[in-house]
Formats: sequence, C-alpha cells, structure tokens
Amino acid sequence: MKRIGILTSGGDAPGMNAAIRAAVRTATGLGIETLGYIDGFEGFATRRIMPLDDRAVGNQVQHGGTFIGTSRYAPFLDADVRARAVRQMHHDEVDALVVIGGDGSFRGALALQAEHGVAVAGIPGTIDNDVYGTDHTIGFDTAVNTAVLAIDHLRDTSESTGMMFFVEVMGRTSGAIALHTAVAAGAAGVLVPEDHSDIVELVERLKESHSRAKRSHIIVVAEAGSPGGAFEVAKRVSELLDHPYRVVVLGHIQRGGRPTARDRIVAAQSGALAVESLAAGRTGMMIGIQGGRPVEVPLEAVVAGAHPAAQEDLLRLAQQLSG
Ligand code: F6P
Repeated sequence: MKRIGILTSGGDAPGMNAAIRAAVRTATGLGIETLGYIDGFEGFATRRIMPLDDRAVGNQVQHGGTFIGTSRYAPFLDADVRARAVRQMHHDEVDALVVIGGDGSFRGALALQAEHGVAVAGIPGTIDNDVYGTDHTIGFDTAVNTAVLAIDHLRDTSESTGMMFFVEVMGRTSGAIALHTAVAAGAAGVLVPEDHSDIVELVERLKESHSRAKRSHIIVVAEAGSPGGAFEVAKRVSELLDHPYRVVVLGHIQRGGRPTARDRIVAAQSGALAVESLAAGRTGMMIGIQGGRPVEVPLEAVVAGAHPAAQEDLLRLAQQLSG
C-alpha cells in the first residue's frame, strides 16, 4: 500500500485531530504516505487535498474541531459524483480511505467499497455516541464534560435564586449526552427521546422536591427528547407548576473545545488500528472500542445495527438520585 487518504465527515467532534495524528503517524511507521481531503467528502469529490505527514499533525492533539475541515456533503449521494471522485483517487495513487465520522459517513464509505472496490476503514467520530458496535465515539466524553461544566455554573444561579433551569443538550436522535450529563450534574429531571415518561410525572417530582425546600432544579432535555425542545418542555411544565424558570440551549458549544484525555486516547487507539487494518489488507472495518480495547467491527454491521438504546440503568439512576 503506497498512500492512504483521510477525511473527517459530518459534525466535527473533539478528538478528531488526535485520530488524524494517530493515523498519519502509524502510516509513516509502516512506510505509507498520507494525505487529507479537505472538508470531508466534498474535498474528496472536488480534489481538494492537503498533504499530511508527521510534522503536519504536530501540535494538533490538544485542539478541538478538525484541522482538515468537515462537511455534510449531499452531492455524494449521487453515484456519478462518487465514480468521478474514485477516478481522481486512482489518478492520485491513493489506495485506501480512512473515514472519520458517524454512520451517515460510513454509508458513503461503504458505497465506495461496493461500487468501486475502494479499501475503506471507519472511525466513529461524533459527540452523539449513537454508533452501533462501539461503546464510545470520539468527542462524546468532551461534549458531556462541557455540558456538565455549564450546568455547574447554572446551578450556582439556581441555588441562589430558586429559579428552575431547563437545559437543552445536543443529540440529534440520541439521549446519550443528556443521560450522562444528568447523572454527572445531579439533575432533578431528564427527558430523552428513548424514554416516554411524561411531563406530568416530571411536574409531580418537581412539586415534591419544592415541598422539601430544595432550591436548585436543573432539568436536562435532549435536543430530540421532546418536540419543541427545552422551550416547549419549560412552557408545558410552567402551565402545571407556577415557578420562575429560564431555558438555556447549549447547542454547538458542546461540539468544540479541548478534547478530554479519554477522547484523545480513544482517538489514538482508533487512528492507529484503522491504518494497521488497511495495511494488513482488510477493508470495510470500523474501529470500535469495546471493554476499553479497540476492535474491528464490519461497517456493514454498523450501519445495519440499531442505535444503542438509552441506558435504562442511567435513566433510573438519574431519577433515583434527583433528590
Ligand atoms: O451529530 C452531531 C450533532 O452535533 C448533533 O448532536 C446535532 O443534532 C447536529 O449535529 C447539529 O448539526 P448541525 O451542526 O448541522 O446544525
């Protein structure tokens, strides 16, 4: 294998740079050249290339975002666009592709493999932790820590003023960030898409804790946990419970920032094994983390698998400890 292309795709996630670094340096160690496609499949399709070597990935491990850029590139759904991109790839003597992103990005990679025999490897990079076959996606730990820090700040105000805070966290279709954040931040309530507990039940619990003179109340709402998000939940709660409140939407603040050590380590493990897998002649594998160890999971199984269900135990724990 002479040359590997690397791209990041979909929403950026803290730790993607650490994964690129690991992939590049592992490739160098195996005598393989690397290059980056700028802005994900868009750069792959339009031949926007960035040379990558050991020095180019220096001083990147601690930075959030992705220094080679990313995008959600709808034209890549078109088979002709993919065919043109592969012709350019062959012209540039690129033998394999590492795709860092979520399962939408993996579908793109699989299409290249199925239609043109391109050797591909996937690395799960998304703050949502909603990829089948891995315990941990790159960026999830950082996003949760960012949300917890924000809630620690809000709690000072909630405790001082008695106002309730409805905090909306990200997670397009997944409640993973919300659940982990709720447990770690000691939230009074959490609403996630996977759970159908209703507002009335939440209000009963809030009334009960107000009656015990508890002052600070944080309710974590997953972006997709309730139509209308945290604003709608707050409105409906306030129709049943007359109490001052504020709504805070954390939004893209959760996507940036310095990756935690955990995200960097997972990124390092994944980036290294992705290249080793390709160099050994395997294709169509995602590097997941299971039981703390990097493992190869067929991308076919990843995209066919259901999104991991909300962790019932964490949901129960959040409610049990809400005080
Ligand atoms: O998939 C990552 C994510 O941050 C989701 O949590 C969120 O729903 C979505 O991306 C936001 O996408 P965009 O940046 O395109 O608004």
